[in-house]
Amino acid sequence: MQVAKQKIADLLEKTIGLNVTSFSNATFQRALGTRMKALGTDDFTAYFGQVSVSPEELRMLVEEVVVPETWFFRDQEPFVFLADFISKSKKKLANVNFRILSLPCSTGEEPYSIAMTLMQAGLEPSDYSIDAVDVSEQVLAFAREGVYKNNSFRTNDLTFREKYFYKVGDEFAIKKKVRENIRFFQGNMLQPGFLENLGRYDVVFCRNVLIYFNQDAQKHTIESIFNLLRPDGLLFTGHSEANLFIETRFHPVSHSMAFSFYKKSVGQSKSVRQESSKSSTQANRPSMSSPLSYRQPKPSLVCPQKPKKDEYEFVQQLADEGKLEEAAGRCEKYMRLNDHSAKWYCLLGIIRDSQGNQEDAMELLRKAVYLAPDNVESLIQLSLLTERAGDFKRALNYKRRAKKLQQEGNNSD
Ligand SMILES: C[S@@+](CC[C@H](N)C(=O)[O-])C[C@H]1O[C@@H](n2cnc3c(N)ncnc32)[C@H](O)[C@@H]1O
Repeated sequence: MQVAKQKIADLLEKTIGLNVTSFSNATFQRALGTRMKALGTDDFTAYFGQVSVSPEELRMLVEEVVVPETWFFRDQEPFVFLADFISKSKKKLANVNFRILSLPCSTGEEPYSIAMTLMQAGLEPSDYSIDAVDVSEQVLAFAREGVYKNNSFRTNDLTFREKYFYKVGDEFAIKKKVRENIRFFQGNMLQPGFLENLGRYDVVFCRNVLIYFNQDAQKHTIESIFNLLRPDGLLFTGHSEANLFIETRFHPVSHSMAFSFYKKSVGQSKSVRQESSKSSTQANRPSMSSPLSYRQPKPSLVCPQKPKKDEYEFVQQLADEGKLEEAAGRCEKYMRLNDHSAKWYCLLGIIRDSQGNQEDAMELLRKAVYLAPDNVESLIQLSLLTERAGDFKRALNYKRRAKKLQQEGNNSD
């Protein structure tokens, strides 16, 4: 990278923690191009001169580089676990203002999904409050508006949309009762003293942002989240970010695919959260949307022998607990000695991604799809990976294939 461009990347890194190499050079290039065109310059040195002294220009550049990709009930299981937790601790939560933070909230799908989950689990709007924070004013304006296109609804079951939205032309507007207790406001997670004066939260959602941060920013954010949570508070993170919380002062919750941790507190007795996570069952789940989890709708046709269920689940469990090295080792051993079915390639791919090895992850997931073109989970994971790499066209293609298969799976049920 030429010197001036590198300086701009460094400035972004210092300001919002963004590690420019975490997403495609093309995205950075596009963002720079847009801002430089707006200012009528094609000279990187001149642009650096402006952006380094103008907070307004820096703000505009940040608006261009942020990745606001999000959708309702993203990953599904975090919301299943949250609903389960609320149902089990409703009595304890009565007359307590249950406080949740969605950080970053992007265009609002995450905090609205949280609100719908709480309402569905039986909480009254007066029982809770949600703070939703993002560095981008543009996404916040969108979130406050609360009007969404089809792209924000990617789950199979859209019962929640019928219940909590009304139609405005081709779009869907969120109902007042869902937005009632959500405060949207601007904030930069890297700012010293971030949210310091707002008190502590019972639950923090911090998903799909740490993957874009450099190591220092990740460490800083993990420390901030720890301080923002009440003792025994619950954290939800993204599936590729869970590994960052191993060997920290967070303890994994044993609900598969929730990517959730609770804050370890000194002298902790068995908490409601632990009880809740252990007894989580399908029956307790809200009927809002279908899980996008490792489970496949149909068994793969190319799987030569049924994998040992115990071993597969055990490896999944290890991965959920953040023991990624051990999980990967067992996965490889099983594949060496038993079979190379798509299911195992997919699992190892997800683990490699969680370990930060996106290249291997991509290759393993591609193999899974090659072996079993109907492997929905691999297609979904590939779409997430390619999206993160900035290849939105290919990501959309994988997503469409997965969706089509899911629909076919539903129709044949
Ligand atoms: C991919 S979205 C994640 C949204 C949601 N949490 C989810 O998982 O669907 C990432 C968001 O992080 C925000 N962001 C990036 N850096 C930030 C920072 N330093 N402080 C606050 N928000 C930030 C971006 O504006 C963007 O909206």
